[in-house]
Amino acid sequence: MLSGSVSHLLWDLIQHESRLHTELLHAEKLAGIGSFAAGIAHDINNPLQLILGLAENLFDEQDFAAVRQQAEEIVEAVKRTTAICRDLTQYARRSSARDDTVVRVNGRLDEALKIASYAASFHDIAVVKQYASGAAIRGNPDELLHVFVNLITNAVQAMDQGGGTLTMTTVISHSSVDVRIHDTGCGIPPELLSQIFQPFFTTKPPGKGTGLGLYNVKSIVDKMHGVITVESQVDNGTTFTLAFPTNSSSEGDGFP
Ligand SMILES: Nc1ncnc2c1ncn2[C@@H]1O[C@H](COP(=O)(O)OP(=O)(O)O)[C@@H](O)[C@H]1O
Ligand SMILES: [Mg+2]
Repeated sequence: MLSGSVSHLLWDLIQHESRLHTELLHAEKLAGIGSFAAGIAHDINNPLQLILGLAENLFDEQDFAAVRQQAEEIVEAVKRTTAICRDLTQYARRSSARDDTVVRVNGRLDEALKIASYAASFHDIAVVKQYASGAAIRGNPDELLHVFVNLITNAVQAMDQGGGTLTMTTVISHSSVDVRIHDTGCGIPPELLSQIFQPFFTTKPPGKGTGLGLYNVKSIVDKMHGVITVESQVDNGTTFTLAFPTNSSSEGDGFP
C-alpha cells in the first residue's frame, strides 16, 4: 500500500504528465501551421484572382443575366476562401475533451487530406481512397484528425522527389477497424525504424519537421487502445497501419 503522501505525489505526477502531453500536442500543431503558410497563400490567392477578374468584368457588363452569373461566381469564390480559413482555425484550436465520440473514419481522412494539402505539396501525387463504408471508432475526433494529418503529411513529404501515390484504406474486421496510410516515397532505413516515434526525432530540415508528429500520433493511438505498426522499404515506400479494437460492449449499438 502506498502511503498517502506518496500516492498524492504520484497523482500530481500523472496530472503533470497529462498536461505536458496536451501542451506538446498543441505546440506541435502550431509549429506545423507555419508550413501551411505557402499552401494557404496559394489556395486563397486563386479565388482572389478570380474575384478580381470577375469584378473587373462587371464594370463593362451590360447583360443582366451575365452580371448575375458573375456575381454568383464571386459569391462561390468567397465561400471557398472562407472555408479554407474555417478549416484552419478549427484545426489550430486546442483539441476538445470529447474523448468518447463516435468518429466516422472516412470523413476524418478526407478532412485530414484537405488540411495536409495546405502543409505539403501534392504536386505529381495521386490519391487513392479504398474506404470500407461506415468505418467508425470511438475516440476524440480532433485528436484523430491530428493523427491523420500527421501521417498524410509525412507520406506526402516522403514523395517530394518525383511524386508517387498516396493510398488511404479503411478496413472493418470483426475485432478492429484498421486505417492504412501508404506512400510510394523514400522509405525509412531499418536502423531508423526504432527511433521514429521518439520525441524530436526528425530527418527533415528545420521548418519542415519538428520530430513531434509520430510521437503525438503514437500517444493518441495508445490512449485509444489502438496499435500502430509500420512497414517500410527504402526507395519503395512506407505503410502505417492503425488498428483500433472494436469495443465488444458497444457491439450491436452499430455506430449509427
Ligand atoms: N511516410 C514516411 N516515409 C518516410 N519517412 C518517414 C515517414 N513518416 C515518418 N518518417 C520519418 O520519421 C521521422 C519522424 O516523423 P515525425 O515524427 O512526423 O517528425 P517530422 O515529420 O517532423 O520529421 C521523419 O523525419 C522521417 O524521417
Ligand atoms: Mg511529421
